[in-house]
Amino acid sequence: MRRTKGRRSGPEQSPNKTSPVPRLTEAASFRIIFRLSFATGEPVRLDPNLLRDHRMRRPFIAGNWKMNLSHRDAVRLAEEIHERVSGIPDRDVALCPTFVSVTGVAQALADSRIQVGGQDCARTDDGAYTGEVSASILKSTGASVVIIGHSERRHVMGETDEVVREKMGKAREHGLRPILCVGETLEERKSGRTLEVVERQIRKGLEGFGGADLTETTIAYEPVWAIGTGEVATPDQAQEVHAAIRGWLKELGGAIGEDIRIQYGGSVKPSNVDGLMAMPDIDGALVGGASLNADDFATLVGFGNG
Ligand code: 13P
Repeated sequence: MRRTKGRRSGPEQSPNKTSPVPRLTEAASFRIIFRLSFATGEPVRLDPNLLRDHRMRRPFIAGNWKMNLSHRDAVRLAEEIHERVSGIPDRDVALCPTFVSVTGVAQALADSRIQVGGQDCARTDDGAYTGEVSASILKSTGASVVIIGHSERRHVMGETDEVVREKMGKAREHGLRPILCVGETLEERKSGRTLEVVERQIRKGLEGFGGADLTETTIAYEPVWAIGTGEVATPDQAQEVHAAIRGWLKELGGAIGEDIRIQYGGSVKPSNVDGLMAMPDIDGALVGGASLNADDFATLVGFGNG
């Protein structure tokens, strides 16, 4: 069975273009399933993947290489991943190397449908900001995507919600598609504040965003306690937060909120990707460690075929 939420019309299609397949609401999908069940007399199992098929959200798997790989190794890994994922249909894929390798990786992937992204951008336009990379410079190096507000930037580099908001604005101003990262720490989860924290990060990060900006945005829910620890959120834990995020996105963007993709990130691996991707509001993954291995990353992109 197809497990995608949308259809590609060709390899060069923009990741956010949607196909003309009509969207069914969840309730309508359930009605069809029950009618089928009644007509055939067979009990029909309610499979979340069946609901997924009727949605417009094409799965989006992105690799965040963080501060890893020499330039040469980054280009080589991009080529290997290209070879392994080029035959996998109905998935959007992005790779985010360090800034210095964006151009090389983008050149290596020029003939591919894999998008290239930065891991951050400055909150200001070009100017006297030693060591920073603006959204416009990042765009000029071949990036089309940018990760904003990653937990390592929030918690190691001390980025506030306000800084994240400014960076989101710069990304959109210069035509980059942001992946806005949100997620609670272990302490916040233990004290029952997960949804409060994530809601604040979502509302602040998307402040001032209108329809077109929202359409071009992806959300990545990355619980801080699951990043690089091997401790993945269970599919139910992740789905609970993704469903809440979906609700806030619909509040902010109306019908657009239904189409915005929400990735899960935090110790995603070939062994756990299928369970996560079976959840109705998990539309992809933002992958750290496992994106540094071409076989593992290709398995994640081709989830559901194991
Ligand atoms: P890991 O997949 O290594 O846990 O990292 C997740 C992440 O931070 C992706 O942005």
